[in-house]
Amino acid sequence: MNEKTRYETPIIKLAVERKLISDKQYDQCKELVKKSKRIGLESSIEEVLVKQGLLNDEKIQELSEILRLGETGDLFGGYRLQRLIGKGGMGKVYEAVHEFTGRKVALKVLNSQFSKEGTTITRFFQEVRALAKLTFPNIVTLYDAGKAGRRYYFAMELVEGPSLAQLVAQKKHLDEREALSITEKIARALAFSHANNVIHRDIKPENILLDERHTPKVTDFGVVMHQDDDHMTLTQEGFMVGSVHFSSPEQVEGARDIDGRSDIYSLGATLYYMLTGRTVYTGKNAEEVLTKHLVGSWTSPRRYNPAVSEKTVRLIRKMMARIRERRYQSMEEVATAVRKIVMPNLYLRVLIAAGSAIAVFLTGAIVEVVTHFIEMTFLR
Ligand SMILES: Nc1ncnc2c1ncn2[C@@H]1O[C@H](COP(=O)(O)OP(=O)(O)O)[C@@H](O)[C@H]1O
Ligand SMILES: [Mg+2]
Repeated sequence: MNEKTRYETPIIKLAVERKLISDKQYDQCKELVKKSKRIGLESSIEEVLVKQGLLNDEKIQELSEILRLGETGDLFGGYRLQRLIGKGGMGKVYEAVHEFTGRKVALKVLNSQFSKEGTTITRFFQEVRALAKLTFPNIVTLYDAGKAGRRYYFAMELVEGPSLAQLVAQKKHLDEREALSITEKIARALAFSHANNVIHRDIKPENILLDERHTPKVTDFGVVMHQDDDHMTLTQEGFMVGSVHFSSPEQVEGARDIDGRSDIYSLGATLYYMLTGRTVYTGKNAEEVLTKHLVGSWTSPRRYNPAVSEKTVRLIRKMMARIRERRYQSMEEVATAVRKIVMPNLYLRVLIAAGSAIAVFLTGAIVEVVTHFIEMTFLR
């Protein structure tokens, strides 16, 4: 049978191509459609596939969106869309494969209603231009950006995940060493970003993704601020960007002179979350949480995780000082402070390792001398 007519709908064709259903299962379901028709029941092939538990409504919805987006089949802007991995404020993120090179990417596609709208397009350009400047091991790499049909898109390094938020949710909380190691890497990434005049402004566990080697990567530069040009006009006075739980007090107040120290506060709040599995402040609604960033007193993370050291508590306290002049003044300072907490342990481990090596060496030498002595004395 001809490929085009073999499958009843493009969705089914795609489902078979993706191996979500086999040809045999498809034929069986088609048979069921015919049978039900004979007894007067009208069911579509999709309905039967769902009833048989081979597909679900969500999957069908996803496949149909991929087809709707694609210019020809599931091809969009030279990329083959594989699956939806994230939905965001201004668009969707797909796992996709670049048709020519075979490279797997994360493809962020702007919603079409936004492709006309000024602010979102400005944001889109801010994001791609920030990423284009920021080649760093702990920041997702930008590969390509463009427009296909009416939609803007960009392709970036695919980070398989989980996000830090998902990881903490799975483990309840992270141990201190792991949390500090992630914090140090993100602090270095943001130091690099700040040196390039890009303030992230939305640092939070959802926007830190971990790759298969557990390397953390900052993503979502959608609300960045470029300090070096006229992009600053995007933030209106009194308009807050960022997430309620991780925003700095100056963001909450809608200040326009946000700088790198705001990201330091958010990273401190993220570290608190990693260690306790809780946000620093909670409240009945967003307003209550926001107010607490301004006036609320926090509960020490040791209350929820007694294993956290006093040094780390002091680190978070300083990162999250309400008045930014009292915080660390740069991300380099944060990274150095984290290193100092981690280092003594490292020294200790190096010392123990060196001690063990010397002990092994000495034991070997003693055994050799004794053996030699015995040989010389008794075996002559
Ligand atoms: N590079 C990437 N690799 C894998 N998944 C990603 C990547 N970037 C984003 N995502 C997924 O898509 C979701 C939304 O993307 P994000 O850039 O955070 O947009 P939003 O501004 O809408 O939050 C993320 O939470 C994450 O799950
Ligand atoms: Mg996000």
